Amino acid sequence: MSRGIRARIDRSALTHNLRHAKQSAPKSRVMAVVKANGYGHGLVEVAQSLSEADAFAVEDTGEAITLRRAGIEQHIVLLSGFHDVDELDAIARWRLSPVIHDHWQMEALRGENLTETLSVWVKIDSGMQRIGFFPRDAPRVLQALESLSNVRIDGVMSHLANADDLASPATRRQCRVFQEAVAGCSYPRSLANSPGVLGWPATHMEWIRPGMMLYGCSPLRDNTEADLGLRPAMTLESRIIAIKDAPAGAAIGYGGTWRCSATTQVGVLACGYGDGYPRHVPNGTPVWVNDRLGRILGRVSMDLTAIDLSGHDGVRVGDWVELWGGNVAASLVAAYTGTIPYELVCRLGNRVPRIYEP
Ligand SMILES: Cc1ncc(COP(=O)(O)O)c(C=O)c1O
Repeated sequence: MSRGIRARIDRSALTHNLRHAKQSAPKSRVMAVVKANGYGHGLVEVAQSLSEADAFAVEDTGEAITLRRAGIEQHIVLLSGFHDVDELDAIARWRLSPVIHDHWQMEALRGENLTETLSVWVKIDSGMQRIGFFPRDAPRVLQALESLSNVRIDGVMSHLANADDLASPATRRQCRVFQEAVAGCSYPRSLANSPGVLGWPATHMEWIRPGMMLYGCSPLRDNTEADLGLRPAMTLESRIIAIKDAPAGAAIGYGGTWRCSATTQVGVLACGYGDGYPRHVPNGTPVWVNDRLGRILGRVSMDLTAIDLSGHDGVRVGDWVELWGGNVAASLVAAYTGTIPYELVCRLGNRVPRIYEP
């Protein structure tokens, strides 16, 4: 039996958003990023809904093998590559493509006697100072990989650090650094994440790597989902399990951070931080109750959250309330919470059932 919380996943929204990515970068192939359990939406179901993608990208070998076992046939790229040489056998056997980003991985490949061809991507750090070879090392690294038998280079990639901010000069700089670093080779290039796809055409190149936009959350700081033509794929909903009239002066929840100035009809939802709804949402964070905006009252607890039902006539125990989705964007809740929608959807708890809708 459900506790009264669910995440409805709209498969048609995923397909719509993928097509939107393709239309935004019509000359590029699409590597759909489905890591972190499909950004919390469900790894296999998301990949199946995104069957028009040319490739998938995940973080670790386990997720990649899960996709293969589910019958996913596209290329699967491991964005952080292999973490241990012991993984290489499985990687080759399951036809996965690790990203090679560090010299220790080069050493490991040199020392391995690969019996099957391993296809790899090479990552260049164009300015983020995260993973990737320095641009000056790119020619040497590519040459070294080319000299290894049974290693095939599928492409070169880099990652953008500031593309969500259309006013930032960093993206143009990263784009230039990356292009110069790989100018001497003819491998397919990949730079654009979702903000790159939607905001920076020069980053499109041969492969785009959208994640967040596929799930229908705005990846651009100053644009809403609606501005960008994206459809939210996830609607997080919880049921009202109790309604009460709190008297004037009553303090609601742990710490009593909300005090009622008048008698207030309070609804209690079967949802809390144990489900991944953030504990630190402030008083007044919006929810959607029976076709109208409502608001959170007091602190979110592990399993329960109070909302203000004043002025919401006809609301009953058992009614569903949207915490984020088509009416209250995850990016709006994220803004109230001081985070990004990526974190909200990725942290949605395992105990929240995902309901897949066509
Ligand atoms: C290497 C890499 N490429 C692409 C993406 C997708 O980014 P976004 O979700 O902003 O589209 C990510 C996400 O973190 C990433 O780490």
